[in-house]
This record gives sequence, C-alpha cells and structure tokens, in this order.
Amino acid sequence: MSRIPTEATDVLVVGGGIIGLVTAWRAAQRGLSVAVVDPGPGGGAARVAAGMLAAVTELHYGEQTLLALNVESARRYPRFAAELSEASGQDLGYRACGTLAVALDADDRAHLRELHAFQLKSGLESEWLSGRECRRLEPMLAPGVRGGLRVDGDHQIDPRRLASALVTACERAGVAFHRQKAERLSVIRDRARGVTLTDGTALAADRTVLATGSHSASLPGVPEEVRPPVRPVKGQVLRLTVPPRYAPFLSRTIRAVVRGNHLYLVPRVNGELVVGATSEELGWDTTVTAGGVYELLRDAHELVPGITELPLTETCAGLRPGSPDNAPLLGPTTLPGLLLATGHYRNGVLLTPITGDVMAHALTTGELPPEASPFAPDRFPAAPAPAPAPSEQPA
Ligand code: GLY
Repeated sequence: MSRIPTEATDVLVVGGGIIGLVTAWRAAQRGLSVAVVDPGPGGGAARVAAGMLAAVTELHYGEQTLLALNVESARRYPRFAAELSEASGQDLGYRACGTLAVALDADDRAHLRELHAFQLKSGLESEWLSGRECRRLEPMLAPGVRGGLRVDGDHQIDPRRLASALVTACERAGVAFHRQKAERLSVIRDRARGVTLTDGTALAADRTVLATGSHSASLPGVPEEVRPPVRPVKGQVLRLTVPPRYAPFLSRTIRAVVRGNHLYLVPRVNGELVVGATSEELGWDTTVTAGGVYELLRDAHELVPGITELPLTETCAGLRPGSPDNAPLLGPTTLPGLLLATGHYRNGVLLTPITGDVMAHALTTGELPPEASPFAPDRFPAAPAPAPAPSEQPA
C-alpha cells in the first residue's frame, strides 16, 4: 500500500555511503533541499576500505582517462579534508605520509620498473630507489626487497572517519535522513520522481541520485536502458594494531605485487595497520575466508616479517562497485530526473572530493563539468538484470 507522497525535496540521494553522502552534503551547501535514503548511513564499502589516496601507485594500463580524474581529486583532497573536518568537528585521519611501492624478486622488480616508466610518461612524480634505500626509509621491510618507487604524493585517510564526518556534515547542512531501504524507484510520465521505502512511504523528489555502490544495478523500477552496469568485486581486508613499543612500525603506506597479488599495508597514526586486499569476482559473497586471511598474512609477512608479532584485531570483506572500464558513472542519465554516482570500483575514497563537486554541479546546472564528461553514464549500453542480492533472494 503506498502512502501519500511527502512534500518533494529538490534532491533525493539513494545510498548513504561516502559517495551518496558527499553528493548530499555538497548539494545542500548549494542551497538545494536534500534527503538521503539508507538504513545505515555511513556504512557500505568505506567500512572496509583502507583509504589509500593512491592516484600514482595504483596506476593501471588502459586507465589514463581515469588517471586525470584521480589526480584532480587527489589535488583537491587537502582542502576538502580541512573543510569537512571544520564542518563536522571531526578528525578524518588524513595523513600526507607518501607511499613506497616495493619489489621482492626479479619479476616484481621488472613490473615496478615498467610502472615507473609509465608513471613518468604520464607526467607523474615517482622516484626509483634501491633495496637499501627502501630499507633506510622503512627499516621493517624484509632484507630481500630489491628496489622500490617512492611516491611522496600518494597519501591516506581513514574511510570510517570520513564516512562519520560526512554524516555529521550532512546533518549540520540540513540534509534529512530516511533510515530505511529504498524499495522502488518511482517513474511517473517518463520521469524519475523519488522512491518508495519498504514501509510504503513515498518520497518525492525533483532529482533522484542513485548511489548505492555495488547494489546500484539492483533497485527495482529503474528502467533497463538506464540501469548501471555495476557489479560487486569482493575485497578481504585485515586490521592489526601496532603496540606503542613497536611504533613507528611503518611510517608510510607500503605496496607490492606478491606472486601477482596486489598487497598494501596502511599505517595509521592511532596504531591501526590495515592490510589488503583480495580481489574476487564472487557475486554478493562477503565471507571472510581462511584462504583470504592466509594469503594476505603470508604475503605481508614476506614483505614485513615483523608483522606476525602484531595483534590481529579485525577481519572483514566488502564489495567494490566495479564498472566495465573501472571508472565511475557520474551525472544525468537519459531518464529525466535520474542521476548516477556509482561504479567507483577501487577509487571511491580517492574520488570522494571530486564526486561531490561534480554531482553538485550536475544537480544545479543539469550538466557535467568538463573534468567529468568522460564519465557520463550513457557511455555504456544497458546492464543485464543483476542476480538478486542476498536480502532479495527467496529463503
Ligand atoms: N584501492 C584499493 C583496493 O581496491 O583494494
């Protein structure tokens, strides 16, 4: 049974992860009336993410267009973090610590040499170091480290603090929260008009933003031709704690490719050490497996042998919202009134500042700013119907 629609807001954001929240916050700052629908705002993939702001060390072949967006978002981060910290009264754990990407054997070294050449060709700052120079910077590294790339511009933030600060900043900016699940997109006379919640409440809005991460293809009522082609890509992550007597265990983010697996260790000021991540195409599965934990610890131990002395305080798994070209889908769709902010895959935390700016621009002008034009949703054909998420499967 549907209830009488509420008074319409200018903007309704479906999804209260960091991407939905930053969209809501920036839109509210521009004077729009905004509401967010999410059973647990501040949750989502950011609860699991390590928070590397790694535009340079996470460069991949074929992603040069995305690189420009990543680099621009990294450039905006210090000001964004300061503004959000001020608006929320919370510390975000932003740390301009730099990153060291290291090689353990001849194959890793060759791979890193190629990455270095590609970084320089792309106009990025990155310095080649010998194994000895790497260990001078980070004495806990294994004696076998053969060389590395020092990238002082790749920083980090604590994504859990980022999410919490965004919830507070939204509340302070007057964003309304509906702590429920959106059940269906309302489309009336070929225009998106808001959503219906699970309790039957109809929320009306002039513009609806779909920002539900890996679930973005799953909202009933979204016409097939604008359904985003986003899929879940599982990542398992560990959290360890560095006791004060071992500090500083590591002073910057360490990355490596070990036997083809990407590995990173992200040390926080509060002693947390995040180790990630697996990358698994297993649909909606978020099980933490013995194999996943084993592989992460085995590879991390090869890189930093002392890690096995540390308490293991948390294991978790999250779902990256993967898109066909690994880049986000931003801005208006061909269905009037429906916009997307999804598909950020490995770069959701890094792309948070620019996503907020781009979406606020799109919501106020109806157009994408030039830096976001390659990421318009209509670059893809429609997505096939997704498998139902666990909560939607029959018991
Ligand atoms: N950006 C890190 C990851 O996706 O694992």
